[in-house]
Amino acid sequence: MIEVIQRACKTCKWRRRRRCAYKYRRRDSALRKCINAARNENLKHLEGLVGEVGAGKNSLVRSFRNEQFKYVEIRGKVSNILLEDNTMDVIVAGQCMEHWYQRGDTLEQGLTQIHRVLKPGGLLYIDVPIHSHGLKLFKDGDIDEIMKIFPEDSWEILKVEKRRIPCAPLAEVPKQVGDINPYPLVIVTRSKNEVRRDFEASE
Ligand SMILES: C[S@@+](CC[C@H](N)C(=O)[O-])C[C@H]1O[C@@H](n2cnc3c(N)ncnc32)[C@H](O)[C@@H]1O
Repeated sequence: MIEVIQRACKTCKWRRRRRCAYKYRRRDSALRKCINAARNENLKHLEGLVGEVGAGKNSLVRSFRNEQFKYVEIRGKVSNILLEDNTMDVIVAGQCMEHWYQRGDTLEQGLTQIHRVLKPGGLLYIDVPIHSHGLKLFKDGDIDEIMKIFPEDSWEILKVEKRRIPCAPLAEVPKQVGDINPYPLVIVTRSKNEVRRDFEASE
């Protein structure tokens, strides 16, 4: 059984956007504020070579660069990452996995490539929207089912975190369905030693 932490920022006053302690743009939704807060807490003090898949135009992760933290934007499809094996210390894929299928990539294809380019022991940081949009797996939001995409022989699960306690309605999120409210799920995993080549072998 995977332990799922439920948490919000100590200072979270999400109903009043001006009180949010974290960086956000005026037009950002309340959901986006929670995403940014989670990234600030988890990613700001990373070290090494940090790659981002599906960075988009305004990557918050890119802005965390410092002397210890070198940023690499990973462009193109996640199923075809143009990096050498075992080169990256960290890979970030934020609000991205739920869209991979729209460009013809399966979750397994993407995760196999990410595993290949991570150094042994390298970290993968993922955040996905739950009960919101994209792949049905994430819209359904069954966390035990979601965690099955990280095979035990390749990934050590370090953290699974539901942001906000409780997952109360977010008035600013327009796509709310009935009583189900979207929230960001954060997953941090560590790559286990061997590079998985089973996907490439089956090509
Ligand atoms: C909703 S945007 C998220 C952007 C940014 N990470 C953020 O949090 O704002 C989804 C991103 O996933 C990327 N994406 C979608 N499918 C992809 C795939 N199969 N391979 C790589 N990137 C993909 C898109 O190009 C886009 O940049």
